[in-house]
Amino acid sequence: MSDNKVAAPELSVLRERHSSKWRRFPSDVLPLHVAEMDFQIAEPIAARIIKMTTENDLGYLGPVPEVSAAFEKFAAKRWGWNIDPLYMHLATDVGVAVVEFLRTHAKPGEKVIINQPVYNGFHHWLEELEIEPVDVPLITGNHEYLLDLDGIEKAFAAGNRFLLLCNPHNPVGRAFSREELTGLAALARKYDAVVLSDEIHAPLTYGEFVPYLSCGDDASATGVCISSSSKSWNLAGLKIAFLLAQSPEMNAKLNALPEAMHWRASIVGAFAMAEAFENGEPWLDATLVTLKENAEHLVSELARVLPSVKTHIPEAGYLAWLDISELGLTNEEIFTKAKVALVPGPDMGGSVYENFARFNFATSKEIITEALERIQRAL
Ligand SMILES: Cc1ncc(COP(=O)(O)O)c(C=O)c1O
Repeated sequence: MSDNKVAAPELSVLRERHSSKWRRFPSDVLPLHVAEMDFQIAEPIAARIIKMTTENDLGYLGPVPEVSAAFEKFAAKRWGWNIDPLYMHLATDVGVAVVEFLRTHAKPGEKVIINQPVYNGFHHWLEELEIEPVDVPLITGNHEYLLDLDGIEKAFAAGNRFLLLCNPHNPVGRAFSREELTGLAALARKYDAVVLSDEIHAPLTYGEFVPYLSCGDDASATGVCISSSSKSWNLAGLKIAFLLAQSPEMNAKLNALPEAMHWRASIVGAFAMAEAFENGEPWLDATLVTLKENAEHLVSELARVLPSVKTHIPEAGYLAWLDISELGLTNEEIFTKAKVALVPGPDMGGSVYENFARFNFATSKEIITEALERIQRAL
């Protein structure tokens, strides 16, 4: 890390990595699909992992008050949000946390509201639980994406009692406003519904981030925050996340989850997460600078290389939602002809999104340009 920026190594170095991003496709494919960053991880986190390894400190996960204490400070400082550290529960990852919550609390036949286009994991988790999603799509217009509160009210009124919220939203990059979230919380209270707020991308918000649970009594009475350091500090392989309540009633729901959820999480992950919230802000701030520059680079390179593709700069995160309707290549052709792996739009909610693709720009500017030029050559 230099000049308050982080950097990605050369492609040949990246290709030596062992993660899914670098192993899923043949080496002639440029992988910009899965939500991993190519940057080096934060130094205090790397040092903590090395220390635990050299000290043979790799047993089962016991109590880790360090995580909730660190997150309490982080949330207060960055978002003005006061949490109750006693209401935090650890889990293997965000997916496991959501699945275990719904497995415990959703009755047979119950459905879950989502807002498409949305992170493909949401679809897979609900499929695993044999729960049908009820889609209340985001309202779109001029690349603005808003929660459809009228549509959500209708879905609550029809008897649906759970909403799985993605805030900040993957793939469209919205960090929802206090007004939207307060409106949602009032509806959830009115219909006695639960909002599971997946806030895994929150630390990567460029402007203001509003945690659902910071939106007053209605939110406290209805919400659970599910999050992790894994996305924002690039630690997905460490397998750790948390669920957090803001009221005794919602905490009672978390106490009802299987105890094994804690044991199935990783001790290295938990202490890395504590380190991220306690000492990871300089790295996070440097990463935000680099990501913002990358987003601007992507927009200007699109104008130069692929002017028919439209996108917008996300309010959070490193995923760009590309409108490829006038490109002249399908999602499949981007993969087979251009040899660039993006996430095809239909993965986020079906064929209505076939004219979209998700592009991960948490890499070097050279790789961003290379991806666009490969697509241009395939036209
Ligand atoms: C919104 C969202 N939630 C959850 C996840 C996955 O989190 P985990 O690996 O902790 O299950 C991702 C990964 O990209 C994501 O974008």
